[in-house]
Amino acid sequence: MRKYLTIVNKENKIKPNYLKNIKLVTLKDIDKEDTLLEEETAKSYKKLRDFLRKKGIEIGLYGYYRTIDYQQKLKERFVQQYGEEYANQIVAPPGRSEHHTGLAIDLSIKIDGQYDKNNNEINKHIKNYQAIVPYLSQYGFILRYPKGKEDITGYPYEPWHIRYVGKIPAQIMYENNWTLEEYLRDFSAILYVNKPAGITSFDVVNQISEIYGIKKVGHTGTLDPLAEGVLIVTIGKATKVAELITAEDKEYKAGVLLGVETDTLDITGKVIKSKPVDLSKDIEKIVNSYQKTYMQEVPIYSAIKVKGKKLYEYARKGEKVELPKKEVTVKKIKLLSSDNDTFIIKALVTKGCYIRSLIRDIGRSLDTYATMTTLTRTKQGTIDIKQTNTLEEFIKGKGILHGIDEILDLPIIIVDKEEERKIKNGQKMPNKYHINNKVIFKNKNNKILGIYKVEKDMLRVWKNF
Ligand code: DAL
Ligand code: ZN
Repeated sequence: MRKYLTIVNKENKIKPNYLKNIKLVTLKDIDKEDTLLEEETAKSYKKLRDFLRKKGIEIGLYGYYRTIDYQQKLKERFVQQYGEEYANQIVAPPGRSEHHTGLAIDLSIKIDGQYDKNNNEINKHIKNYQAIVPYLSQYGFILRYPKGKEDITGYPYEPWHIRYVGKIPAQIMYENNWTLEEYLRDFSAILYVNKPAGITSFDVVNQISEIYGIKKVGHTGTLDPLAEGVLIVTIGKATKVAELITAEDKEYKAGVLLGVETDTLDITGKVIKSKPVDLSKDIEKIVNSYQKTYMQEVPIYSAIKVKGKKLYEYARKGEKVELPKKEVTVKKIKLLSSDNDTFIIKALVTKGCYIRSLIRDIGRSLDTYATMTTLTRTKQGTIDIKQTNTLEEFIKGKGILHGIDEILDLPIIIVDKEEERKIKNGQKMPNKYHINNKVIFKNKNNKILGIYKVEKDMLRVWKNF
């Protein structure tokens, strides 16, 4: 959930209304005093504690939710005890401590019947603290200030300070050896979602954004609430290549009802036209005749803009508008089955082709009207519905995360340090690789640096990562 990915560090203050969106609950600390933690954090902490107890490790709460006032006093105490320089190094400025979130915990481990009560004792038993790190992510926690990441987190190594982020983000951070700052900056993936009927594409995007706690999520071709099937979703920097994926051909399976036409062109709309169906017509022949390039009138219930206004806004207000026509290509079309006044088709179409409109046109060619009853996107580009995961699978952390280079059918070139520097700066370069369209540049660690495009015998940056 996005609220568990809240970032509070030297650059980012706690938001003034932060506490409105979370619930703090009471827990006992190592001195049996009442303390506060965010609800989910507390639940997950207890699970982690019980799990570690079974392994013979006894953990206790030593740091928890702090008010800004508390942090102020803590800072003053540290300044008095250890001097300003050291206090500034290890104690966050009031308002910028992660403990204000209720998602951060300082752990203490019981050794020889005693809980460690200060940093010196903890440092003496550092191995005991390091031993629990591999289990943290299973309970949704990360080690927040790890060794070697001081420049990124702004704090020296703290073996005791853990942070709740939720299981899925925690696992990704652990596997990639990322801090929270790196996860929010670098996590990027392409998801092949099997959208269920009944929700919007935007609902899918929102759910994915919640699962991974990342704001920047997009999709690559809307599926209406009625429709299901392949919805390719991009997270983080992968959103930069969304337009390439959107441009891919798409394959659909659609159900058709003859005799009526609705305002939305599908079964969710209001019937506006009807005509008896002549069952002697050769449906297959008419369907097959649509394997062509033609000028297709776009549906009024679409987000296409005419004179700065979306078409569905005209429709909702009952205003007259001339519907634009767009050139579309139906590359393949097939009648899969038919039963009286209903039939099912499968069609492979180019970007911008509306299946609802195609069905309307087929209906009219059959001397009647037609309405789409069901729609499944079975393919987008090379991605088949068989390769998709359901939202439930993503929620359980079982959905596959794909790389940008996996979905783009582009050559990949691994470059050395010198070229990596040039690419990072977005410098153009001669086309010594004989690329004819676009190329993905990666470094030796398999990290995508940028996508370049051929322009007048030179390679120029198209997208930088
Ligand atoms: N020791 C951590 C950085 C804090 O004061 O929040
Ligand atoms: Zn702490």
